[in-house]
Amino acid sequence: MRKKIIAGNWKMNLNVHEAKILFKEISDIVAKNNVAHEVLVFPPSIYIESLLKMNQSTIEIGAQNFHYQNKGAFTGEVSAMQLKQLGCEWVLVGHSERRTMFHERDADLLNKIKAALENGLEVIYCCGETLNEREAGIYFEKIGEQIELLKTLSLNEMKNVAIAYEPIWAIGTGKTARPTEAAEMHDFMRTKLESIFNLEVADSTSLLYGGSCSPQNAKDLFACSNIDGGLIGGASLKAESFGEIIAAI
Ligand code: 13P
Repeated sequence: MRKKIIAGNWKMNLNVHEAKILFKEISDIVAKNNVAHEVLVFPPSIYIESLLKMNQSTIEIGAQNFHYQNKGAFTGEVSAMQLKQLGCEWVLVGHSERRTMFHERDADLLNKIKAALENGLEVIYCCGETLNEREAGIYFEKIGEQIELLKTLSLNEMKNVAIAYEPIWAIGTGKTARPTEAAEMHDFMRTKLESIFNLEVADSTSLLYGGSCSPQNAKDLFACSNIDGGLIGGASLKAESFGEIIAAI
């Protein structure tokens, strides 16, 4: 059985006070509703320790970014090893904002995935196509290429990898993929995983949707058989909307 996951990517938002309040509110929602699936949040790194100290065991915490070396002269960076030691359990790799604004290339992404897995962290690997690529009809090809990056991972390593499909044209735009569009991509991704690895990996890898996911559209998206949850940006910054999305799965 693959995991159902709802993850909130807070990006570079909230002050520390707001972050603690939101974290507590989400924890309370998860505890009160006996939520059975995994709920994760990815706060700005500097808040991770304070949130972990709040000891709200119903939510797991991940980091939005890290360096693939364990230590060394990398001014301004934190490593997967340091995050793991802190108590962090997940990381994001390959988010389109990191690929485009911070010029992260395939080789960097693969190094990061490997470093995370070696340090016992679970990974949400993000992929997505641009609007131009969608309009040119090459979106399956583009996502296929991005998933191919995982092909050197072992079957065992794949147990700790989830994949988020985040069409770039849907991120922060309010223009979400229609459930049929998201569903056909998730079906494709699962088939692709089977062709790269095997049926077991394809069946057991959680595939999430991200991109303007909201309380209004979450139910229809999560009803698709190959969508196992969501990676939520804007709507994860308010306990009420994130709570509704958590309940929609
Ligand atoms: P939005 O939900 O704000 O579109 O962001 C999605 C995202 O980038 C999550 O990683």
